[in-house]
Amino acid sequence: MEKYYLTTAIDYVNGKPHIGHAYEKILTDVIARHYSQRCDDVYFLTGTDEHGVKIQKTAAAQGITPKELCDMNAQSFKDAWKALDVDYTKFIRTTDDYHEAVVQKIFKKLVEQGDIYKHSYEGWYCSGCECFLNPKDLTEDGLCPDHLKKPEIVSEENYFFKLTKYKDAIIKHIKENPTFIVPAFRANEVLNQLEDIQDISVSRSKSNVSWGVDVLDDPEQVIYVWIDALSNYITAIGYDVDNESDEFKKYWPVDVHVIGKDILKFHSIYWIGILMALGLPLPKHIFAHGWITIDESKMSKSLGNVISPTSVIENYNLETPDAFRYYMATSAACGRDGNYSDDDFKEKVNAHLANSMGNLLNRTLSMLVKYFDGEIKEEFVVNPELKKLAANTVSFVKTHFDNFEIAEAAHEIMTLVDATNKYVTDNAPWTLAKEEKMTECGSVLRTVLEIMCTVSSLIYPFCPNIARAMSTQLGYNLSVPLDEVANIEYNALKIGKLIEKEDIKPVFLRVDSEFADKSSKK
Ligand code: MSP
Repeated sequence: MEKYYLTTAIDYVNGKPHIGHAYEKILTDVIARHYSQRCDDVYFLTGTDEHGVKIQKTAAAQGITPKELCDMNAQSFKDAWKALDVDYTKFIRTTDDYHEAVVQKIFKKLVEQGDIYKHSYEGWYCSGCECFLNPKDLTEDGLCPDHLKKPEIVSEENYFFKLTKYKDAIIKHIKENPTFIVPAFRANEVLNQLEDIQDISVSRSKSNVSWGVDVLDDPEQVIYVWIDALSNYITAIGYDVDNESDEFKKYWPVDVHVIGKDILKFHSIYWIGILMALGLPLPKHIFAHGWITIDESKMSKSLGNVISPTSVIENYNLETPDAFRYYMATSAACGRDGNYSDDDFKEKVNAHLANSMGNLLNRTLSMLVKYFDGEIKEEFVVNPELKKLAANTVSFVKTHFDNFEIAEAAHEIMTLVDATNKYVTDNAPWTLAKEEKMTECGSVLRTVLEIMCTVSSLIYPFCPNIARAMSTQLGYNLSVPLDEVANIEYNALKIGKLIEKEDIKPVFLRVDSEFADKSSKK
């Protein structure tokens, strides 16, 4: 069995989860579920980033200890992912003992081999980014371009990682591996950033930051965010400097790090330098997704438009997170920014999930009951053209996933659904029944239901609950590997009695406008 290891960014726990964090976790979960349908042994890592100044300051402002803040908010993240059916393999917290111990050893190893050195430094430090900024990258008003805050001048004696030593090798790797950074247009940005890259500060003085992992043998220094945070990807699966676990040997290198575009530099430059210094194989892909805005505005506490991931589900009284998952996962083309709006949410999920997909299954099953007492007969023939289209759709979807084009994959599925709806309209099984052309009528119904088996497999990563409801009514086993689904010879439907009238149920109820109104007035 081939393995597939994928990770999300680990979220800062100085606040609660919002829809932007949810976007990333849903995208990653959709990718994970897709690859598990391709028979791969999938390992999906997520977690929380719990050290640093921001957490220290937020905890102090709330009159609690940093650890109390971390415990409380890490739980909120876990609860949110549960509510969204984000089915990770492991949740790492950077305050986990095993992680802290290995981070200390990684740091020590890099000091011993001369990749980390101590140096006095003065620079523009942004506490939002938790890093020193290059003056050239500040806005015209001298602000951090991401946080629009004035960075502080900080002077300290810190440890530095010799990133410049790895600069050429990183550039070479990016140039030689065109799918290393996804989408490809971001690779140029990274190459530009690499041009004037400096060695990076990897520790802070304890007098400035106390909430962090101590540097071994130097109690005045704490290891500071990026080495600590980025190492989660290897410590979680059992990396140790002198003893790599079997799990690590099996899963590393990671197949994809799914992260936001704002932290691409840290992943495609800093992390790669650290991995090179550790002599470890490099990630296969780094997929930088875009950002989610709310009603086309940047989400921010000051605008008061921060949406919690579960509020949409609660406000619309949704029984499962599927509609929200579908909406989020399809909200942007690969690597582009997306947007959430209540109106668009309602319109899209009603149109795609209820009208196009759900109704198609519902009315086809109803006709099967009406004309054939719910039975699929041997003599009903599946239309080869539509079956071929479904098989092609499976391969298009696979290719899109391989390119991390998640919204594009969903679009292929809906195109197949639309073509199947058109096939029903064009062939009018109700007319065929009236004309007593029963074998033709049954063949149309069997064709549609056969395609709906493929659709339920394909939609499963996005909408696992809807897919289960569909497959139950189709008597179809959702765990059929995708390659088999794509086989044109494969008949998913069993011959014989498929369903009774009372077992036909809508797989997705239209989002009720009454609830939607409640949400927008919130
Ligand atoms: N802790 C670091 C990541 C360390 S990874 C070794 C961090 N945390 S974060 O909480 O600020 O962001 C976590 C992830 O959420 C990042 O990938 C970030 O891009 C993503 N998002 C945060 N806000 C977002 C949106 N509004 N939209 C989409 N994703 C966004 O960075």
